[in-house]
Amino acid sequence: MNMTAVILAAGKGTRMHSDKPKVLQTVLGEPMLRYVREALRPVFGDRVLVVVGHRADMIESAFAGERFVRQTEQLGTGHALMQALPELRASDCQMALIVNGDTPLLRAETVAHFMKEAEGADLAFATISLDEPGAYGRVVRDDEGHVSAIVEARDYDMARYGAPTGEVNAGMYAVRLSLAETLLPRLSNANRSGEYYITDLVGLAVAEGRDVRGVQCGCDESLMGVNSPRELAQAEECLRASVVDGLLDKGVLLHAPALVRVSPLATVEAGAELFGPCEILGASHVERGARIESCCVLRDSHVCAGAEIRSFSHLEQAQVGQGALVGPYARLRPGAVLERESHVGNFVELKKARLGVGSKANHLTYLGDADIGSGVNIGAGTITCNYDGRNKHRTVIGDRAFIGSNTALVAPVTLGEDALVGAGSVITHEVPAGQLAVARGRQKNLPRRK
Ligand code: UD1
Ligand code: CA
Repeated sequence: MNMTAVILAAGKGTRMHSDKPKVLQTVLGEPMLRYVREALRPVFGDRVLVVVGHRADMIESAFAGERFVRQTEQLGTGHALMQALPELRASDCQMALIVNGDTPLLRAETVAHFMKEAEGADLAFATISLDEPGAYGRVVRDDEGHVSAIVEARDYDMARYGAPTGEVNAGMYAVRLSLAETLLPRLSNANRSGEYYITDLVGLAVAEGRDVRGVQCGCDESLMGVNSPRELAQAEECLRASVVDGLLDKGVLLHAPALVRVSPLATVEAGAELFGPCEILGASHVERGARIESCCVLRDSHVCAGAEIRSFSHLEQAQVGQGALVGPYARLRPGAVLERESHVGNFVELKKARLGVGSKANHLTYLGDADIGSGVNIGAGTITCNYDGRNKHRTVIGDRAFIGSNTALVAPVTLGEDALVGAGSVITHEVPAGQLAVARGRQKNLPRRK
């Protein structure tokens, strides 16, 4: 049977009090929508549609390559699904899985379990049991335990439905497309919110005598919806603790584990050592024997075995080779490549720059668009002047060169192997291999005025 998944992500997220669409709010550095998308990938691959509306352009550009459907007015979750119908029909879909985009803890296993339980049903939805049903839609069952409706919290009438049981709608549905086509036009917005609720499909399908199932998916948090800053913080803490737990199981050394934040996209090998607080975000990779001290932030960076990242360092799309030393207070920006045993010290910034084997830039330096050989010493206060106001230019420094302190290297410029630059120089021309360049005013000593 042809199945397509639909992620509902058009809502404003009013309760988040943010200009950002809710599904772009981040959990451990990744937008919520990414987690939902990834949980669907094993079963649905590319057969996924995302319904967007509020600030649709922001979501579309953050998720380039995905298939989008626009819901121009946010008239409710049922209305959102209706906007996806033409696209679903066109893709020859027979069964649709619909999931709220604000469920960042959704797991691929939960999706697979739900799909299995929903097999053969006309309409199925996932339920969870909570001590307090809160703002979730309440599941109403008849005396025999068959589902009869989902009633939204705001519309719940105790006199009519009795005390809620704690079983609530988790916001994941599977529906036969032909049934959705019949029932969606019948939805009404005569309710407390004035919205077309997807949840009303349940009561309508039951009235039609269809096979409707409420699939119990436990009582864990993996299906929790995020509607407020508090829920976002809860979801993030939940995921953080589970990632950290996995790292401890695996054999990663963690100090102050409660303060360690590692993205589920990152890999940290057994025998790596992390000191909280620290953040290892994106697709970062930390090898066995590497050490990340407290107050460091790494994003999409690779740290090899035996390398040490000292406190207060910030790395983004950087590579740190075996046994290299970074920081404290270093900044490695995209394209920074530190080869084996190299050193980068305090207040040193690298951007699109390679520092060769064993080379050192230990203090107060900016190296941008630079290719630096091995065994090079970069003195304190060296700056590659790579930007002329219009274009960027490269600096090339040969093996074993020695750059004196407070040197400005005005790019494009090349320094040969074993070149030596006197402190305080402004280098604008090539320095050939093995030569000494001094480019500064000569010192004059004059009698002091009395
Ligand atoms: C919804 C369910 C509720 C369930 C809960 C689970 C309805 C009516 N209620 O409530 O039964 O317990 O999820 O978390 O569905 N959206 C659109 N277009 C719209 C409105 C919403 O795409 O016009 C999207 C939102 O971006 C969000 C999702 O649908 O990702 C759910 O909407 P939300 O407003 O969060 O619904 P809840 O009130 O949480
Ligand atoms: Ca929600």
